[in-house]
Amino acid sequence: MNQSKDNERHLILGIETSCDETAAAVVENGMIILSNVIASQIDLHAEYGGVVPEIASREHVKSILPVIDRALSDAEVSLDYLTAIAVTYGPGLVGALLVGVSAAKGLAAATGLPLIPVNHLEGHIAASYLTDQTLAPPFLCLIVSGGHASLVEVLNYTCYRTLARTRDDAPGEAFDKIARSIGLGYPGGPLIERASEGGRSDAFYLPVTHFPDSYDFSFSGVKTAAINAYRKIEREAAREGRSWPSSCSEADFAATFQSAIVKALVKHTEAAINDTGYKTLVLGGGVSANRKLREEMQEMTAPLGVRLIVPPPVYCTDNAAMIASAGYFAWRDGRRASLDLNAVPMAELDDIIGQPVEKGGLYR
Ligand code: KG4
Ligand code: ZN
Repeated sequence: MNQSKDNERHLILGIETSCDETAAAVVENGMIILSNVIASQIDLHAEYGGVVPEIASREHVKSILPVIDRALSDAEVSLDYLTAIAVTYGPGLVGALLVGVSAAKGLAAATGLPLIPVNHLEGHIAASYLTDQTLAPPFLCLIVSGGHASLVEVLNYTCYRTLARTRDDAPGEAFDKIARSIGLGYPGGPLIERASEGGRSDAFYLPVTHFPDSYDFSFSGVKTAAINAYRKIEREAAREGRSWPSSCSEADFAATFQSAIVKALVKHTEAAINDTGYKTLVLGGGVSANRKLREEMQEMTAPLGVRLIVPPPVYCTDNAAMIASAGYFAWRDGRRASLDLNAVPMAELDDIIGQPVEKGGLYR
């Protein structure tokens, strides 16, 4: 590949190891994906019904260098062509994050390239720049994943204000827990989505939690109510001598649970849109791969004249292209980390390490 290191073409290597995907990608100018390599550990964690942190760290150690090599070779570039190395430093599992952070620091030390710290959630936001190259801040973003439900004002490419978060469980966590409880397996979101096909979405009552004067979410109530409903359904099924009773099929159960989660996400997002007046809504995070959520968000936004941008499912779930994209904008805005960068398991989107004060950073 014939390339020059000019001001027009900036290639960022992104590295992501916050949970159970070891990922590396090369992205040009924050928008054009040259490579996107993901080594998933899902099969290893599936037998435990969720991510086992120890196993995740060990697998990241095994995969990280081959995954980075592959990202560079798929992009047909060597380290010499890169402008910077971007890495997820949090939030996530500390032992998992440390593998990516250490690899990125090693590469930065060896090459002298700038090291760009990226918050995992801003990666999920940046996935939309890869999806729609006309997208530019400001806009409202709903990030829904295994660890988060956050409504975020994206003020500019590197500055965020969180309007709402979950006060307990994340929606992906609720999907995973319910899928495990009814014997579907892991990860629960896609399995519940598949199981819900053809089901009734009002087979039984589930509460949707709202807080006064807040867009915050809560999913522990709906999760517990769904588990209790399932216990009753199991008893009924046993009386009828079948695995699901005549009153509620597996599809009905899955559709009803999925619908309750989607309803809460859509309602709170609609309230935030009405109050803030944003005309663009972006979705990100693994749960935004959900078809029902995508459809209902489309139905909510269309009459309001709000543009909805949702990445294709492969860029909703964890990947490194989104980290490289966020890393490009952060690099352009002067964000840097030193080689003592550490993993921050509870990293906050509104306070990113190394962000210059004039670009919204709080301390530096
Ligand atoms: O963003 P992600 O890959 O990792 C985190 O940052 O957490 O999200 C993973 C979560 C899992 O809980 C998974 O069950 C959920 O996203 N998920 C889905 C779907 N695909 C993945 N939830 C609902 N419907 C889906 N199609
Ligand atoms: Zn994620």
